[in-house]
Amino acid sequence: MYKSSFPKEFPKEFLWGGATAANQIEGAWNVDGKGLTTAEVVRKADDRKKMSMNVVDAKSIKEATNDLTTVNYPKRRGVDFYHHYKEDIKLFAEMGFKVFRFSIAWARIFPQGDEQQANEKGLAFYDRVLDELEKYNIEPLITLSHYEMPLALTQKQNGWLDRRTIADFTHYTEVVFKHYRGRVRYWLSFNEINTGTWGFHETGVVDSHLKKQEQENVRYQALHHQLVASAIATKQLHEIDPEAKMGCMLARMQTYSATCKPEDVRAAQLEDQKNLFFTDVQARGEYPEFMNRYFSENGIQIKMAAHDQQVLAESPVDFVSFSYYMTTVTSAIAEEEVNGNMSTGGRNKYLEESDWGWQIDPVGLRITLNEMWDRYRKPLFIVENGLGALDKLESGKIHDDYRINYLRKHIEQMKQAIKDGVQLMGYTMWGPIDLISFSTSEMSKRYGFIYVDQDDEGNGSLKRIKKDSFYWYKKVILSNGEDLA
Ligand code: BG6
Repeated sequence: MYKSSFPKEFPKEFLWGGATAANQIEGAWNVDGKGLTTAEVVRKADDRKKMSMNVVDAKSIKEATNDLTTVNYPKRRGVDFYHHYKEDIKLFAEMGFKVFRFSIAWARIFPQGDEQQANEKGLAFYDRVLDELEKYNIEPLITLSHYEMPLALTQKQNGWLDRRTIADFTHYTEVVFKHYRGRVRYWLSFNEINTGTWGFHETGVVDSHLKKQEQENVRYQALHHQLVASAIATKQLHEIDPEAKMGCMLARMQTYSATCKPEDVRAAQLEDQKNLFFTDVQARGEYPEFMNRYFSENGIQIKMAAHDQQVLAESPVDFVSFSYYMTTVTSAIAEEEVNGNMSTGGRNKYLEESDWGWQIDPVGLRITLNEMWDRYRKPLFIVENGLGALDKLESGKIHDDYRINYLRKHIEQMKQAIKDGVQLMGYTMWGPIDLISFSTSEMSKRYGFIYVDQDDEGNGSLKRIKKDSFYWYKKVILSNGEDLA
């Protein structure tokens, strides 16, 4: 009789851990030679249920550069990981982390983005972080660009819209690959690259003055430059550190069809294709034909250099990573919209929502994993998933059963997907320590196993407190995903 060789449980070497980003945890925005970043000029949202990420223009940047406080720009202060990293990593180690995902702030290494000489103090900070991780045998997973870049590159050349940014970025990547050679096995190029279609926070391109179609054109052009830069970085990494692996990173958002009407199913398929397009390029090495068609039918013209297609084809990524928070619904006719981390979409009446209106869909994770595995046949890595919630401190404790429930249901579905035959390398839940929210820059939207005493205005002792979920995740890791009770 035929016997399946696929595992029925999490593989022994499964990488359990947590994920963060420099601009949401580090703080220390103006010390040790660091330059100002694009994330640090985005004002916190006035309406916490609305995104603050796109309201950046020349005027708001000017205001931000004249304001040297952190009150309106919370990503400048983060949760001061820069000075608490030893304590924080010790807590991660106590939970049994096998991997810690964090990003390097490009502007710590190259404050203006285009210098020849790296800032030694910036390199030294991440050396100290790596020393600490090595002490506890925690594998680093480093994102090269997580929603920030040196602001100077936006001011000089409008961020990724300018082709010269490819050379600036690949100078930075070459320097960090050489400097950290042998110490980092897993790298990611651009965080949630697809969200560049939403503008400034990902591309560093000021385009809010443009009409919608022009904007779309500009964004796909900037993203083309990132796709090329990502392929060049992959090639560099393989040459500089042959043991190391490069992954791409997508905000994966499965789109369901609102009905079984074929037109609706097709509308949902197109949404899905537009989402997967980025991973198609990064994992398969070429622009898919459906996207070329979309570009030509929507008046989008991407300028490519003669060798770009070859560069993309030569260096596909080694593994495919993605964030997973929600699914959406679409139909041929527009539906009622709900919130989400990058986009809005139709409401799904079968799903519950978080306090911020994000639809919670654990089964969708199994569907997503199966589809991604079928499409790419490369190892998958879930590098973000979690619940942003309002936590209450009660007599020094946080009883966050809602978070435990959310994570449990998603991990159960991961196990189902592994049994379906999906090759899954690891899981880094988002924000293992409370951090500044990306979309609203508030502190009250908490994801962590570890509570940080800081409010939305930046008041608080920054004391770290273990939540109930801290002890729960420790059990999950210790039992390699078997004990989810
Ligand atoms: C992802 C980002 O989109 O979602 C993270 O990569 C972000 O940077 C996370 O923090 C959660 O979003 P938010 O807006 O709740 O912080």
